[in-house]
Amino acid sequence: MYNRFGLSIILLIFILSLGSCGSLTVETFYENGAVVTSSPTASEIGLEILKQGGNAFDAAVAIGFALAVTHPEAGNIGGGGFALTYNAVTDEIHALDFREKAPGGATVDMFLDSNGFVAENSSLLGSRSAGVPGTVAGLFSLWEKYGSLGWYQLLQPAYKLADTGFILDQYLANSITSFGNELKQFPETKSIFFPENIAPKPGDRFTQKNLAATIQRIALDSLNGFYSGKTADLIVETMTKYDGLISHDDLNSYKPVWRRPVNFQFDSLDIYSMPPPSSGGVLLGMILKLLEPVDFSIFAPKSPEYIHHFAEACRLAYSERATHLGDPEFVDNPLDVMLSDDFLDARRELIDENQAGISHEIESGIPQNFLESESTTHFSIADKFGNLVSLTYTLNTEYGSKLVVGGAGFLLNNEMDDFSIKPGVANVYGLVGGRANEIVSGKRMLSSMSPTIALKNGKPALVLGSPGGSKIITTVAQAIVNISRFGLSPEQIVNMPRFHHQWLPDSLYLEEGGFDINIKQALIAKGHNIHERSRYSELMIITINEDGMKTGAADPRCNGSVSGY
Ligand code: DON
Repeated sequence: MYNRFGLSIILLIFILSLGSCGSLTVETFYENGAVVTSSPTASEIGLEILKQGGNAFDAAVAIGFALAVTHPEAGNIGGGGFALTYNAVTDEIHALDFREKAPGGATVDMFLDSNGFVAENSSLLGSRSAGVPGTVAGLFSLWEKYGSLGWYQLLQPAYKLADTGFILDQYLANSITSFGNELKQFPETKSIFFPENIAPKPGDRFTQKNLAATIQRIALDSLNGFYSGKTADLIVETMTKYDGLISHDDLNSYKPVWRRPVNFQFDSLDIYSMPPPSSGGVLLGMILKLLEPVDFSIFAPKSPEYIHHFAEACRLAYSERATHLGDPEFVDNPLDVMLSDDFLDARRELIDENQAGISHEIESGIPQNFLESESTTHFSIADKFGNLVSLTYTLNTEYGSKLVVGGAGFLLNNEMDDFSIKPGVANVYGLVGGRANEIVSGKRMLSSMSPTIALKNGKPALVLGSPGGSKIITTVAQAIVNISRFGLSPEQIVNMPRFHHQWLPDSLYLEEGGFDINIKQALIAKGHNIHERSRYSELMIITINEDGMKTGAADPRCNGSVSGY
């Protein structure tokens, strides 16, 4: 740890950080590496790897496996995700897609009953809700391309945590308890989380022997330790038992894909984020570019005028998501048009600074109520070599499909719900979709995950991302505005209350307790349908100044932590 300017400057930063969110913070700058994750144990593991001379990519692999043990609601080997990487030697930024795929046996109407209605919970619970997992292949591909330490070595911290166990903290004990009813539905899952049929307590030791053995097979045999051999057999056995679709062929043929990131400029930032099959990068670009010409000098970070402009930009950006975006292997995504000045200039004309738009007049669709879920996880890493990793991965909702692979100890995702399972019917995040995101065997479902990296004057400046389903994109966009337009520090940014609009449902979501009555009344007067939401995404952010000093912040809404040296 390195306190950059000594005590007097620390005090100055302390005072500066009293800002709009009212929290008292001291910013710590790290000269070498910084890691921000949703689990203190995983952050420490990442830091250890960096201290051993590993790079950010090594740390990402170790953290990715560690979170599968310490943060089972979202950390995973049975799910998938995306990463943005910056390689300091080549000065290149790449996007890694390890999103799940629809199994070979999947069909367009697989979640509809004989009357054509969506069978309740069918895309969210159990074997058929799972896509073919991509996490192990993704982390292996990251390591193969950029790793410097041994693969086996990087998986040992996770193996040990699973094998000898770790002490449950309040956060994880509460989380397991609150999902008890769902986790007890499958005996394979119950035996891990409720072994004696009693809720786990803080202070209990939590061991996961089958998961440990699976991690060790992957450590020894890399891809074959998961996509073929015993682990694959156990996945297919579980599918057979529960009438699922994932086959040996699906597992054997799964491949992650390195893609060209979405790239756009906002103020002085050169921003890179995730392309399809995530909608994250392009919507982030649209929102920020729609806002870019707006004069912010009269706005404050929570002013109704700013929130209104932001929400209107979101309404326009999200209206394009449903119609146009899908897996690029199956759909032609018009990214160049969506991010072009001509298109955005014309769309911006639709924004009235005094009056909220009406979503149904912009595009049609059928809004539905949607549930809250906070079960993806993001981590950001910056190393002493100048490399960056921004990685978001998930099981989709908390504990995914709730189905553990028998004998293998890991949960399967329920990512199939991210497909448009029927035109106009919203998914768990209230997102509607159409043909571009319909189910096709072997296709990747559309995502909102937005791991993001930004350069300033050609040098690394920002690594960030968040869980939150459809709210990921607005969380990341607000963080960037808060840095670039309002000059807030990472600590202030993670503490800021958030707001969200996604076109449909036509509602402006405000984080509960974050906005006073005057702000709400001003927004209602502009025509917004206000809804309050508790607990609202989990931003993990690192900023890097011109001297290469790193500072980070983990969202206080979760159990996250920053480690650095
Ligand atoms: O890919 C997506 O957009 C969703 N499956 C992400 C889910 C998520 O962020 C859940 N956590 N809050």
